Amino acid sequence: MKVFVTGGAGYIGTHTLLQLLAAGHELCVFDNFSNASPVALTRVRQLSNRDFAQVEGDIRDAGALHRALADFAPDAVIHFAGLKAVGESNEKPLLYYENNVTGSVNLLAAMDAAGCRRIVFSSSATVYGEAQYLPFDEDHPIAPTNPYGRTKAMVEGVIADWTKATPNASAVLLRYFNPVGAHESGRIGEDPRDIPNNLMPFVAQVAVGRREKLSIFGDDYDTRDGTGERDYIHVVDLAAAHLAALAYSARATGCEAINVGTGQSITVKELVAAYEAACGHAISAYIAPRRSGDVASSYAATAKAEQLLKWRAELNVNDMCASSWLWQSDNPNGYPIDVSARRR
Ligand code: NAD
Ligand code: UFG
Repeated sequence: MKVFVTGGAGYIGTHTLLQLLAAGHELCVFDNFSNASPVALTRVRQLSNRDFAQVEGDIRDAGALHRALADFAPDAVIHFAGLKAVGESNEKPLLYYENNVTGSVNLLAAMDAAGCRRIVFSSSATVYGEAQYLPFDEDHPIAPTNPYGRTKAMVEGVIADWTKATPNASAVLLRYFNPVGAHESGRIGEDPRDIPNNLMPFVAQVAVGRREKLSIFGDDYDTRDGTGERDYIHVVDLAAAHLAALAYSARATGCEAINVGTGQSITVKELVAAYEAACGHAISAYIAPRRSGDVASSYAATAKAEQLLKWRAELNVNDMCASSWLWQSDNPNGYPIDVSARRR
């Protein structure tokens, strides 16, 4: 199948490319490299021993998208491209609406022009907002609490409307919980540009000596050990969910939102302990005040993914930490920035 992958050079995109290539799909990656390194795509080529088309372009540029989709004529699109920092979205909401919402509208219009009717979209559990009940199932009310989350909820709505108006269209909205970990090779992984906002990359940078200590944001939550609990999902399992979603979209029309998580919660302290076991030394940490906007617990109901996608997570927290550590220790500063390394 021919698959057009926006944002394919990023963290989740690169892991998904490897599985798409292994399954024999023909790919075109469309990315503006605003939060990714071209080296990541070079490594995907090396690891897979396969080549694919690559277009440097911005989804806000409707003309560039139209040309790329018309040239490639895909059977399906996987849409990862987007900005994802909650804090930044509070400071620059218009940038987020333009990039994530306008960019997605452009993409659907270009798909229409190219006659492509299948899309898998990267949504987020953040669309649920405060938990009314747990685990979050897909019928939980949608009430995001920040601009980033609102862009995801808006794009979900736009895609649902597009699906209704487009004969035979098929869309899967994957609501990711907390993606972590890396490919088993240690050659690709998460490479935050600034100070990591998220727990696992921060822990990884403390473990490798790039940062002094971890702030644990609150130990007085109503959880097993007082620290926040989340549903961490191995990025390799998450990548597999995209292939399952593509397969599902070939046999179904309409629009479905589907959680992608393990259904298990892990506390901050539990994750730190698992990382210490993976890296073989203690991780310096201290208890800091709660982070504003954080919830105590978030985890997924997974029945819908199992039922519709025939997919479930296979990897555990030890796999997540071991693979993250392999990536971080082999690439302590992430991907090389030397442009001469771009095609290596
Ligand atoms: P990432 O930043 O590593 O990947 C996003 C990719 O999109 C990058 O390669 C970036 O360069 C590209 N991009 C951004 N804006 C673009 C534009 N205007 N035009 C073309 N390319 C553009 O992020 P990720 O963690 O791989 O996330 C992928 C998707 O999953 C995002 O949409 C994100 O919101 C969503 N998501 C991520 C998480 C998470 O915790 N990582 C959780 C839920 C949802
Ligand atoms: N945490 C720390 N110290 C840190 C970072 C995080 O103690 O340095 C704690 C948080 O307080 C929370 C847990 O680790 O209890 C997980 O925090 P993350 O920032 O890794 O993940 P969140 O669940 O807060 O946020 C993620 C995405 C958001 C998305 C949200 C809901 O980053 O984009 O999931 O799906 F909105």
